[in-house]
Parts: sequence; structure tokens; C-alpha cells
Amino acid sequence: MANLSVPTFCVVTGASRGLGREIATQLAKKIGPGSSLYLLARNKDKLEETALAIKKDVGNTLQVNCVPSDLSSEEGIAQLRKDIFENVGDISRFSHAIIVHNAATVGMSKFARELDDVNFLQQFLLLNITAPIVLTSSFFSCFGHGKDSIRKTVIQVTSDNATTPYQTMHIYCMAKAGRDMFFKVMALEEPEVRILSYDPGAVDTDMFRDTYGSPDPEFQASMKNIAKESYFLKAEQSAEALVKALEEDKYANAEVIRSYDVLGIKADF
Ligand SMILES: NC(=O)c1ccc[n+]([C@@H]2O[C@H](COP(=O)([O-])OP(=O)(O)OC[C@H]3O[C@@H](n4cnc5c(N)ncnc54)[C@H](OP(=O)(O)O)[C@@H]3O)[C@@H](O)[C@H]2O)c1
Repeated sequence: MANLSVPTFCVVTGASRGLGREIATQLAKKIGPGSSLYLLARNKDKLEETALAIKKDVGNTLQVNCVPSDLSSEEGIAQLRKDIFENVGDISRFSHAIIVHNAATVGMSKFARELDDVNFLQQFLLLNITAPIVLTSSFFSCFGHGKDSIRKTVIQVTSDNATTPYQTMHIYCMAKAGRDMFFKVMALEEPEVRILSYDPGAVDTDMFRDTYGSPDPEFQASMKNIAKESYFLKAEQSAEALVKALEEDKYANAEVIRSYDVLGIKADF
């Protein structure tokens, strides 16, 4: 079992709504007094709602920082790296550092043959690929690497789309597959770091509903059918499974852990 109840530096991207809000809320209940939690997304008001809910739950035992930021822009990423990782101060007050790469978009409104907008693709790649890579790099610069450095956990939220192609989910599938492999390589290079690639399952969030806008009617229908299934999860359930997997601490580094396996639920996809 991993003891999460220690002073922790913790960053959660995409914490303004959906799964990220629940992951931040549930991690806040587990990490120890003296922790600092950083909530990232673009929508400042929604981040503050998340922070308020957390403070209601856990009081002032931890510091909650809202950092509004656009991870689909180079400037946004650069500013964020400065604001968070260059201002941590004395890292010896923390016993554990966690970063959760949860923010993402589906980037899906066309068929693959129609993807001709370079600007749109660059923004998509910045958010879904570049940001997790460079934020992880800042995380290592700040907390060090190697056996003698502070205990570190990197969590990246992936999807079954990393291994199963779905029509019109081209760049989303590609990004999740790319990230899974990136963190598999990191797992070889940094064996002392715990790396959890977490597949949350089908979860009732804005992103799931975004898929109803697919230009492929067959795919739209299949997503609407999934939403009627008993395995369609609430964000809270999926976040609980993530925290359970972290605490049980049985996962191999960068191996994909599926919410359904943690929860003992059968899903037919
Ligand atoms: N829902 C599912 O069924 C499902 C299934 C498999 C995997 N996943 C994965 O689970 C994770 C969470 O998804 P979700 O369903 O909770 O999605 P969601 O409800 O759409 O939330 C996405 C989060 O990312 C943030 N975000 C989006 N664009 C951003 C940007 N440019 N800069 C900074 N933050 C940005 C959003 O906040 P702002 O809009 O405030 O910026 C929001 O907090 C994602 O990695 C997703 O791929 C979800």
C-alpha cells in the first residue's frame, strides 16, 4: 500500500470540471497536512468552484492554488511552468510530489481526410502532447531525479482510444497512443518514479457528450448507446478508482490501468 497521507506537492490539470475536478477533490482528501495543491485549467471561476468545494471538505490543512492557464498555447505553457515550478520554494517540506496530466480535448469535428488546419492541429498537439511532456520535465527539474530525490508519482489519463481506433477520433487516438508510449519510455529511464497511465472508462462528462457532435452518425449512435449502459461511470466513481489504484500501489510503471478492472465492473468495449 502507498501512504498518500504525507505533505504533498500536487498538480492536477483540467481541474475545472469533469474527471479532473473529481481527481483533485479526492486526492485532496488523501494527501497530508502541509500539502500544496495546484489546480489548472482555463476557466478561473470553475477552478475557484473546485477550490471552494475542496476547502469545504478538508478545511485549511492544505494550500489550494488556482492557476488559470491555456495549455494549448506556447505562452500559456511557458507562463505556467514559471508560475508553478519556479516558485515552489523549499521542496524539503514535501515528502511526495504528484502531477496529474488530465486536461485534454477530443479535437473531433471532421474526418481524417479533412484535417487541413495547421493552427488547430498545433493547438491540439500543444495541449494533448507537448504540455504533459514539458510539465513533466519542469516537475523533474524542480524535484530532481534518481534514487535520492523526493518520491514522485506521474499520472497520465489515457483512454481505450489509445489502442482502439474509432472513426473521427483520429488525433485523439493518436495523442493517447503517443502519450502511453512516451511514458513507457520514461518508465525505463526513471525506474524509481511511479508512473500510472489511467484509463477512466466511459465517464459522464462534457468530453463524453462532445463525441455526440461527431460527423459520423454510426459513431454518434454508439456513444449514445454507451451512455445508457450500467458501466457508464460518474466522474466521482472513476476518480475513486484512480485513487484506489494509487493507494493499492500494485500497478507496473506506465502499464495502463482501467477503471473497470479496479472497480470490478464488466464493460463490453
Ligand atoms: N469522459 C470520458 O468518457 C473519457 C474517456 C476516456 C478518457 N478520458 C480522459 O479523461 C480526461 C478528462 O476528461 P473529461 O471527460 O473530464 O473532459 P472534460 O469534461 O471535457 O474536461 C476537460 C478539462 O480539461 C481542461 N482543458 C481543456 N482545454 C484546455 C486548455 N486549452 N488548457 C487548459 N485546460 C484545458 C478543461 O478546462 P477549461 O475548459 O476550463 O480549460 C477541463 O477542466 C481526459 O484526459 C480525457 O481524454 C475521458
